[in-house]
Amino acid sequence: MTRKRMPKILVTGAAGQIGSELTMALRNRYGNQNVVAAGHKTAPSPTLRDSGPFEFIDVTQKETVEAVVDSYQIDTIYHLAAILSAVGEQKPQLCWRVNVNGLYNILEIARERGLPGIFCPSSIAVFGRETPRDNTPQETILSPATMYGVTKVAGEALCDYYVQRFGMDVRGIRYPGIISSETLPGGGTTDYAVAIYYEAIANRRYTCFVGESTVLPMIYMPDAIKAATDLMEADFALLRHYSNYNLTAMSFSAGELAAEIKKHIPDFTVTYKPDSRQAIADSWPRSIDDSAALNDWGWQPDYDLAAMTGDMLERLTARHAEGRLYP
Ligand code: SER
Repeated sequence: MTRKRMPKILVTGAAGQIGSELTMALRNRYGNQNVVAAGHKTAPSPTLRDSGPFEFIDVTQKETVEAVVDSYQIDTIYHLAAILSAVGEQKPQLCWRVNVNGLYNILEIARERGLPGIFCPSSIAVFGRETPRDNTPQETILSPATMYGVTKVAGEALCDYYVQRFGMDVRGIRYPGIISSETLPGGGTTDYAVAIYYEAIANRRYTCFVGESTVLPMIYMPDAIKAATDLMEADFALLRHYSNYNLTAMSFSAGELAAEIKKHIPDFTVTYKPDSRQAIADSWPRSIDDSAALNDWGWQPDYDLAAMTGDMLERLTARHAEGRLYP
């Protein structure tokens, strides 16, 4: 069934890296008043706060979400609230509570009310040391090496269970590292690929926490958002997967990323000091086979490394000139 009606949307984790931009994209698409942004503790940006409804919730406390769903008559939830991989290794119990119990609460709220649409992102962190690391297939071994990955494997299984058992419409994408200019990522392993741009502009040098030859799959935020909205608008009958579509736009090493930035900022230098996040990066794929997303809902990225770097540097340079480089 293709959705034609105007949805009434709740975005959890709306003040986060994906949420801050996805919420604005959804407001542009469906109308500001039809998209309720919800955060936990982080204050929303003025853009988010002033363009439509904003509420504070705690996804581990079901009643706080129910109150918002009921008062705004929400029918679609983009559930982005999560603890990422590096913070998850510092706080594994919190990571489980937020990522698994929080998702369970969202799914139960949707089941009890018969809500027609849920989006929940998964991650390349579902893969691990036993998984083929190059052109990682859609169907393969899931052997996560982090608590974050464990919660994402559990989350995919839980979402698919709700589809099979309760006939619900739950969709999701295994995102690769996401690079963005508006909101910093909060404690992931792929954060170096965002921080490097800011430091290139602010200081002309960057100390990278993974080695120069570390290769990971990545995507630029406009493509990450396009993927979410395209998947959610796809014909459900054509989907052969639900909550776990492999997705990628590009793969590059930390050294190749630095070299691309140097084309714009010739005196930029990078030193490499791998820390505990190196082991996490080494457990993840180098590249992803996302042909199922192409076949089922027409996925095609717009940005490669060169196009993304040009756009990132242009945006951050303009902000730096106004004295507000960091969000
Ligand atoms: N980018 C995320 C992280 O590094 C992976 O989903 O944790």
